Amino acid sequence: MPQCNALKNHLCISVDGNFLPCCRYSKHDQKFHVNDYTFNEYRNTDFYNNIISNMEDGWDEGCLKCKKEEDMDNKSSMRERMNKDFNGEHIQFVEFSVSNQCNITCRMCGPKFSSKWAELQKVEIPKQDFNKVIDSIDFSHVKRVKYLGGEPFITKEFKMLVDKLSTLKGIVLQVNTNCTLFPSKYIEKLKKLDWLSIALSIDGIGKVDEYVRQGTVWDTKLKVINQWADFEKSHKRCKIFIHTVVQAHNIHDMKNVKAFAEKHNWFWSPAIIAWPQEFQLHALDKDYVDQIKDEDNAVFLNTISSYSEDLNKKFKSTTERLDKLFGTKWEDIVK
Ligand SMILES: C[S@@+](CC[C@H](N)C(=O)[O-])C[C@H]1O[C@@H](n2cnc3c(N)ncnc32)[C@H](O)[C@@H]1O
Ligand code: SF4
Repeated sequence: MPQCNALKNHLCISVDGNFLPCCRYSKHDQKFHVNDYTFNEYRNTDFYNNIISNMEDGWDEGCLKCKKEEDMDNKSSMRERMNKDFNGEHIQFVEFSVSNQCNITCRMCGPKFSSKWAELQKVEIPKQDFNKVIDSIDFSHVKRVKYLGGEPFITKEFKMLVDKLSTLKGIVLQVNTNCTLFPSKYIEKLKKLDWLSIALSIDGIGKVDEYVRQGTVWDTKLKVINQWADFEKSHKRCKIFIHTVVQAHNIHDMKNVKAFAEKHNWFWSPAIIAWPQEFQLHALDKDYVDQIKDEDNAVFLNTISSYSEDLNKKFKSTTERLDKLFGTKWEDIVK
């Protein structure tokens, strides 16, 4: 009986404007867009009620990422964190990302989240009416707001969000950032919030991060990271942590990311990549995995239950295609 408080206490809107049970929910065959459904209507659909009943006597298929994390040693799942932090009948945690405006093209990201990827792939991503989204949310019991993007600090919606939150009390704002710029223009407003939690997206150290997060210049990123470190020291209501997407291209570098987090005394939050499949760990070659396994990445590599030759072929062809596009070489960063 896993039972997850997200199903009562969480409101999540994806970057394309659809309600989701939570950001980790992985079954997307039915869509409930904010333009077509109110939150209450969405919560009363058969889709939603089925998830609740599935989680009463087993796991809903869309929630299996949490199960996988709970099966791993030393890893807590989103479900466990939700049950620890939230309770009661009201919405306490809101997560949204209504704009894909971004200035880089991370290898594992895509047009839905990054306007740079959308430009490259000539894909049109519809814009959301952020005012409408904000107005549709009852913030009266909300304790935490997570805003993603795109890159939050370059999206115009971020100003609207901070203005709205500055009228409310007792809210924690969490923002994930790619650290390409320090948001000096928002800093005074951010200081006025009750609590700020900043997730620095770091997917490797130095050239590994530059490879995974195409468009990143590590020296500039380090300066921004140091600005956040200074801000945290001078502003007691701010907590920084490091978020890493663990994937085929950076699994060999987890030791360095972990050490970087320890050096700064920051919590490290690694999460296994959600998509695409060919960048998942079981897409790697078994000999390569045996060669790079160490005490820091073993916890992730031990989750591989079987290797897939087809996926490995796809991993190699996608890597080759992206290396050609970006003028990079995968071999250069695994040395
Ligand atoms: C879409 S980004 C938006 C925020 C910001 N641009 C950033 O990169 O931190 C939100 C989070 O999703 C993560 N992410 C990107 N691609 C992912 C993938 N394929 N699987 C899982 N997480 C991913 C990013 O590392 C980031 O922490
Ligand atoms: S910085 Fe964030 S939104 Fe932009 S491409 Fe990377 S993961 Fe996607």
